[in-house]
Amino acid sequence: MSTSNPTFPLNAWYVAAWDAEVGRTLLARTICNKEMVFYRRLNGTPVALADACWHRLLPLSVGRLEGDEVVCGYHGLKFNDAGRCTHMPSQETLNPSACVHSFPVVERHRFVWVWPGDPSKADPALIPDLGWFDDPAWAGDGRMTEVAADYRLVIDNLMDLTHETYVHASSIGNEALAEAPFEPSHGERTATITRWVLNEEAPAFWAAQLNKPGPVDRWQYIHFLAPATIVLDVGVAPAGTGAPEGDRSEGVSMWVVHIPTPSTEKSCYYFWCHLRNYRVGEQGLTRRIMEAAVGILREDEDVIEAQQRAIDKNPGRDFNNLNIDAGSLWARRRINDMIVKENPQQIPAVSVE
Ligand code: FES
Ligand SMILES: [Fe+2]
Repeated sequence: MSTSNPTFPLNAWYVAAWDAEVGRTLLARTICNKEMVFYRRLNGTPVALADACWHRLLPLSVGRLEGDEVVCGYHGLKFNDAGRCTHMPSQETLNPSACVHSFPVVERHRFVWVWPGDPSKADPALIPDLGWFDDPAWAGDGRMTEVAADYRLVIDNLMDLTHETYVHASSIGNEALAEAPFEPSHGERTATITRWVLNEEAPAFWAAQLNKPGPVDRWQYIHFLAPATIVLDVGVAPAGTGAPEGDRSEGVSMWVVHIPTPSTEKSCYYFWCHLRNYRVGEQGLTRRIMEAAVGILREDEDVIEAQQRAIDKNPGRDFNNLNIDAGSLWARRRINDMIVKENPQQIPAVSVE
């Protein structure tokens, strides 16, 4: 495995921050190896500029905001929200080349999305549709954690949820899940895994959510959209109440959004959120689900970071694949398609054929 070939496409929208993380202070983030500084204009809209001053490269994020402009913390050059220098100390004529890159940025579905690649290709219509965030029938909250691993290891983890049996045995995993058959499918930018576990005991987390006795029918639809969005449609219903046929009215459902945004080849910002369609007015339940999720996700992050360390210690070793890896292989193919499209002369970092 080499780090000289790209592991992520640049021509894509990536989540850079939760909406609440971007405000009237300067926020530094490295997205796809590009150092950026984020802030909001006085009218509330977000801005993303390259985080290196044109003059002597001091990160602009250690400067300060003045209105909609950033003042460099070293010699006071000012840059407007388009990245153009508007003031140089002791100098009346501004050098016309004095500017920093301004990245296309859009706020949508409670996230601030940024496009690290060619700005002329940044079509907001390409932002994944996460409409539940804007729908009052769904409630929930999430977090961002920084993970010291290739974002694709997070995607691998999510595309095969049989790991729940071993990594999350005390909460959402059980033996029945690892043995259940699954159905892979894929499209031009997507990969999907569908799994039903019928008439089995609910694992602890789901038993508490459903709060009804008896065995359950459990579903997991794993939807991947390249390069880094995974949405899980998951839930349980009392066995035999028609969930596999489409009637989930007796059960409980969640949309679980996972977005691991690459920071570097070996680190990512992992955004996640659990949205539910039951007891939506109960803030206490939102809090308890989030606390449970923090523990479950920590179990994943420990595994994924240990896996990255082992990968680094075993250069040249490739992965071996099982049937359960079908989803992650398709997801990696879709990512590779995007990388090849923007770098026709380069091969992606990992062959998956
Ligand atoms: S380094 Fe920014 S003004 Fe000199
Ligand atoms: Fe997990």
